[in-house]
Amino acid sequence: MATARQYRYRWKSLRFGVMMIALITVTVVKMARGDAQTPVPATTAATAATTANAKLFLQQCGACHSTKAGEVRVGPSLAGIMGKVAGKQPGFTYSDALKRSSMKWNAATLDRWLADSSAAVKGSIMNYRQADAAKRKAIIAYMASTSGKSGK
Ligand code: HEC
Repeated sequence: MATARQYRYRWKSLRFGVMMIALITVTVVKMARGDAQTPVPATTAATAATTANAKLFLQQCGACHSTKAGEVRVGPSLAGIMGKVAGKQPGFTYSDALKRSSMKWNAATLDRWLADSSAAVKGSIMNYRQADAAKRKAIIAYMASTSGKSGK
């Protein structure tokens, strides 16, 4: 036979259990919401790769270049740069060398440019060298992915 005291104890532990479940549920829901707010949820391998490429771009190029149209930093905006002729972005004063190059930006020309920009276009004023071909490829993939979004 359970005494009144034992019943009270059971009722208390039941209440405690219910409260804990409620607390855990709230926490899990909050965590899930927090995750949904992070800029790029790494839900698939593809988005994870894009995030890595974006990070690399930001780290290697972000100080001098934005991918927002018209945003000039040390260098011109690279919004939708794929397929464009070099040296034509508004609001930036290019070197004569790049302006006169009449080069079109694609995976091949960008790869040469990023491997050694001064050698690719003699007299250009961006001094960048990336010896790692995989990194160049990742950066170019990122620029291609932003080109799609910004229209041209
Ligand atoms: C220290 C600053 C600096 C860094 C870092 C830098 N750039 Fe540049 N970039 C410039 C400048 C300055 C120019 C203009 C060159 C000229 O006029 O000769 C330029 C030009 C360019 C152009 C030609 C744009 C056009 O309108 O034709 C591309 C493409 C480019 N950069 C890509 C990159 C990428 C990708 C990275 C990172 C891997 C990078 N740059 C890193 C300063 C920088």
